Amino acid sequence: MSEGSLYERLGGEEGIRKFATTLFDKHASNPTIMARYTNSNRDDVIRLVTEFVCAGTGGPQTYSGKDMLAAHKGMNISEVEYMAVLDDIVAALTANNVAQREQEEFLMIAYSLRAEILHV
Ligand code: HEM
Repeated sequence: MSEGSLYERLGGEEGIRKFATTLFDKHASNPTIMARYTNSNRDDVIRLVTEFVCAGTGGPQTYSGKDMLAAHKGMNISEVEYMAVLDDIVAALTANNVAQREQEEFLMIAYSLRAEILHV
């Protein structure tokens, strides 16, 4: 079993960009949340989420976007929407052949951000 950083075990920037691309496309076709992304620039969101995940899992990248509170402020995101995003995260990790242990670590990071994203 590899004991490197989660960043390395996700396949570095290339692996994380593939995940972020799958994730955006799942969000854009998920009936619970798709309306949130109608006006989004796909490339920009994929770039920012790639940076965010790289920087947050041990990669050398710098995240150039807003912090989670600022990014989601005023959206009043519900628990159901948050769950839909977590579902899409697991599905996107699975689609990119990320193993169970890495999925668990990823999900815990995503879950830990809920206070900055839910109903803000
Ligand atoms: C673990 C949970 C989440 C993470 C890590 C996350 C991460 C991010 C990041 C990195 C950005 C880009 C910030 C920027 O523009 O500077 C963003 C934007 C956004 N997020 Fe989230 N997010 C999460 C949950 C959610 C949820 C539950 C929703 C509700 C559907 C949501 C909806 C959005 C929308 C609509 C944008 C703006 C996209 C755009 O600029 O076009 N996010 N998020």
